[in-house]
Formats: sequence, C-alpha cells, structure tokens
Amino acid sequence: MSIIEIKNLSFSYDKQKVLENINLTVHEKDFLAIIGPNGGGKSTLLKLILGINPLQRGEITIYNQLPSKNLSHIGYVPQNTNINTNFPIRVIDVVMMGHLNHKEKQTLKWWQKLFQIGYSKEDMSCAMGSLAKVGMEKFANKKIGSLSGGQRQRVMIARALCANPTILLLDEPTSSIDVDGQKQIYDLLKVLNNFITVIVVSHDISVILKYASKVAHINKVLTFHNLDFDGKIKTNDEHFCEVEMLQMLGEQKIHKKGCGC
Ligand SMILES: Nc1ncnc2c1ncn2[C@@H]1O[C@H](COP(=O)(O)OP(=O)(O)O)[C@@H](O)[C@H]1O
Ligand SMILES: [Mg+2]
Repeated sequence: MSIIEIKNLSFSYDKQKVLENINLTVHEKDFLAIIGPNGGGKSTLLKLILGINPLQRGEITIYNQLPSKNLSHIGYVPQNTNINTNFPIRVIDVVMMGHLNHKEKQTLKWWQKLFQIGYSKEDMSCAMGSLAKVGMEKFANKKIGSLSGGQRQRVMIARALCANPTILLLDEPTSSIDVDGQKQIYDLLKVLNNFITVIVVSHDISVILKYASKVAHINKVLTFHNLDFDGKIKTNDEHFCEVEMLQMLGEQKIHKKGCGC
C-alpha cells in the first residue's frame, strides 16, 4: 500500500530553487534511504513531508491527506540533535517530550511534567515502552549527558516512537556516532522496520546497501531506485562511496576500487 505520494514537487527558499519536480512513492514497510550531496535538498524534502516547510508547487499526500493533517503518523529524528550535555535532564524526560507534543488532553503544563511534578502512570508506561523498544529502559533515570553518542541517538529515536508513529523519518541519525554505535542504530531500525516504514537520510553507502530496500538520490532533482539484492547488488566493502553507488545503480554492477573517496 502506498502511504506517501509526492507528485511534481518543487520548492525554493526565496529565489533559490532547492527541489525540482520530485516524484516519489513510499509504500508501507519500505526502508527508504535518501542520499545526496550536502545542500542537495534532503532535509528540505523531509521538512516538506512533515509539513514544516509549506508546499509551494506540486503535491504531497500522506495516507491520502495533506502532511499537516497527518503529523501523528510520523516520528521525526531531526539532523544535529545537539543536546547540551551539561543540562541536567534525564533520559526519561527527553523521551517524555515526544509524548507531550502528541497528547490530546493536557491536564498539566509541559514544565510540570518535565520536572516530574506529575507524570501519569500512562505517560510513564508509554515512555518506558519506547525506551524498551530501543533497548534503553535501564537508562531511564540517567542524565542524558552521561550517555554515549549512540545511546543518546537511541533515546532520540525512543522520543520519536513515543507517539506510536507508523512512519519514522531520520535525518542523518548516525553522523556523529562511532562505527559500533552506527551498526546498533541501523540494526534497531531494521527491527522497527518490521512494524513501521523507515525513511532515513544517510551518507553511509555500505549501511544503505545492507539495510535499505529503496534508495533515492537527491541533488535538486531525484533519482529513485529499488534495490535488488538478488545477486546483482552485493558488497562487503565497508568503504563504498556515493559515486560508486550511483554507478552501480546505473549499471547494475559493482565497482569496488578506485573512486578516491
Ligand atoms: N531555512 C532555509 N532558508 C534558506 N535556505 C535554506 C534553508 N534551509 C536550507 N537552505 C538551503 O537549501 C539548500 C538545501 O538545503 P538542505 O535541504 O538542508 O540540504 P541537505 O539536507 O541535502 O544538505 C542549501 O543550499 C541550503 O543552504
Ligand atoms: Mg540535511
């Protein structure tokens, strides 16, 4: 079933055209990787899907509705979620922020909840459930600043999961995480992908080849590929680069060496 339909989408900041005539369909349980150069328009596209950027030309529908009507279906892990590690906030408080945004009936002010003047049982079980999904429930009362980069990013994913989304968008979730942490994040996304659709902006081509089912390359315009793992596209090369990836997708064969990246 298609859940996101993007048709003839163009977008400009002032006079600078950033996206041009983008067409893309995302199906339920896709694992879509979005790649492309810095400044290519990847984050802009995610913000259009989220309804953060206003539509200018073209169409986006999510479950056949405008993006702004469907926010509760989408969990979002933004790019560069730099948390001030000195700020004395616990893991559970960070996760709870994701829940507060989506709660319909607010009986307590957000700051009352934040400082645990009044987390309800229901709020707590939701946040703890999200932490359990990312394997971080034991860290609930730890200070966010005491965690590793990979652990912090898992907490950010838990925060996004708190509203029970059916689509998870992640913008470069592993850009400042070590190799082990990256693998853990992608293994986690693969498990989540059994239940929800995953759309991730990433530069790590070897990861994409291992985990994604589809790849979209965006540099103002979009090139889209279904990844076919039936023997045509396989690599164990950890240092696969984007140029090679594009060659490979274009030519359906593997070039492993000599791209200089
Ligand atoms: N809020 C903004 N206002 C003006 N220009 C922006 C804004 N956000 C991004 N841009 C510009 O739009 C282009 C695409 O940016 P972005 O979508 O962030 O690319 P990517 O995520 O692929 O690196 C870049 O040239 C960037 O400088
Ligand atoms: Mg970006």
